[in-house]
Amino acid sequence: MHIAHKGRLIAFEGIEGAGKSTAAQTTAAWLRARGIEVVLTREPGGVSLGEALRRLLLDHRGEGLDPLTEALLFAAARRQHVAEKIAPTLAAGNWVLVDRYVDSSLVYQGLVGGAGLSAVRAINDLAVGDCRPDVTVLLDLSPDMALRRMAADRKRTLSRFDRRSLEFHQAVREGYLRLAQEAPERFIVVDAAQPAAEVGAAVVDALGRRFALM
Ligand code: TYD
Repeated sequence: MHIAHKGRLIAFEGIEGAGKSTAAQTTAAWLRARGIEVVLTREPGGVSLGEALRRLLLDHRGEGLDPLTEALLFAAARRQHVAEKIAPTLAAGNWVLVDRYVDSSLVYQGLVGGAGLSAVRAINDLAVGDCRPDVTVLLDLSPDMALRRMAADRKRTLSRFDRRSLEFHQAVREGYLRLAQEAPERFIVVDAAQPAAEVGAAVVDALGRRFALM
């Protein structure tokens, strides 16, 4: 019997410096070693419109934007990312790992930025259609540890989002934990204070069990 290969969408979320991209890369390598084709992508970005909006949004020129405008811009970039890359990859039966997705907007614009959770949710429902994550991996880390890690990483240029206060990052962390609590069937919460190798192992172990890939 032939069982059609089903593409899966896995999102990685967490505060800046939590190690999302490292965990996503580890997961991609692990899946590829199991014969699964994986597209690794990120938001904001992933396609040319998204990269252009990324520069606009992360640049100082973005300061002072109305929170709902900001949410609409992120959602517009996301829509194009879904249309150009995510939906076609899933339709081909391959997996997509995305570094930040809808939950970033729910937290940064909706819960913390002042646009409101229900408005941001509505905009994003429209933007992504049925391209919802099968699993969202939340890399949970205290903001002071994240800031210490970022300060040690001299390759990293601080965007306007990174430069905010500890309280801001704490509110983002709490926002993510709230979303995870509200949708425990979708979230995998990993303690990102562990060394990177252990974080990666915890992520692939949880995904392997979830999708019976062990
Ligand atoms: P990036 O450099 O990708 O962040 P990271 O520190 O995770 O590597 O910058 C992304 C910034 O954009 C980050 O501060 C979160 C913010 N953002 C939103 O506010 N809303 C969104 O929907 C997304 C995708 C990102």
